[in-house]
Amino acid sequence: MPFTIAIDGPAASGKGTIARALAERFGFHHLDTGLLYRATGVKGGDPIQAARTLAEADFGRKDLRTAAAGQAASRVAAIPEVRQALLDFQRGFALREPGAVLDGRDIGTVICPTADVKLFVIASDLVRARRRAAELGADVDAMLMQLRERDARDAGRADAPMIRADDAVLLDTSEMSIEDAIKAAVGAVEARLAG
Ligand code: CDP
Ligand code: CDP
Repeated sequence: MPFTIAIDGPAASGKGTIARALAERFGFHHLDTGLLYRATGVKGGDPIQAARTLAEADFGRKDLRTAAAGQAASRVAAIPEVRQALLDFQRGFALREPGAVLDGRDIGTVICPTADVKLFVIASDLVRARRRAAELGADVDAMLMQLRERDARDAGRADAPMIRADDAVLLDTSEMSIEDAIKAAVGAVEARLAG
């Protein structure tokens, strides 16, 4: 059986950075599931049709990391048929040998409820806004408002809301360097591999 690592948490908490590092460290595949929703959100037209017909070219767009794409993603992500259309690909990816790391909002709860390791990564709103503002060259206050709006929509939706799975390890990176956050995550994986 492949080894599966599920990483969830709000925007700019550091989950993608940790997911990439774990994948590299353990030789696992990595899927940033947010990209599926971002690509669906920016494609235009009927979002359900967009999700059902996502193709390679949709992921080559340069505007997927923008704040606007993040907002568009969180709007289409509340549509159950959109989530359903993206489900099989994610579940299939999680089965890749020798293992896979998936990061998003519902990995530990819906996509991979039996994952070997689950992490729920958080950081204070202000720290997250500062991080994302630095990445995008944007204003911290504007980013704070945007992230809060997106988090509220993601946590409040009826279908697959962003929530910590009961068995997920909580990792607060507010005061952590990237190196320390990665170390803590590696520790959680090694403990599971050993035991
Ligand atoms: O994937 P997610 O949106 O949760 O966050 P990310 O893309 O991994 O991290 C957002 C930004 O915060 C990146 O620029 C990271 O380098 C930075 N970061 C940080 O400064 N300290 C951490 N402990 C983790 C991430
Ligand atoms: O990197 P960041 O955390 O800012 O965002 P992302 O992971 O790229 O996700 C963008 C949006 O997609 C989120 O705000 C969610 O609305 C949605 N999403 C989701 O609903 N379920 C997932 N597994 C991943 C993302």
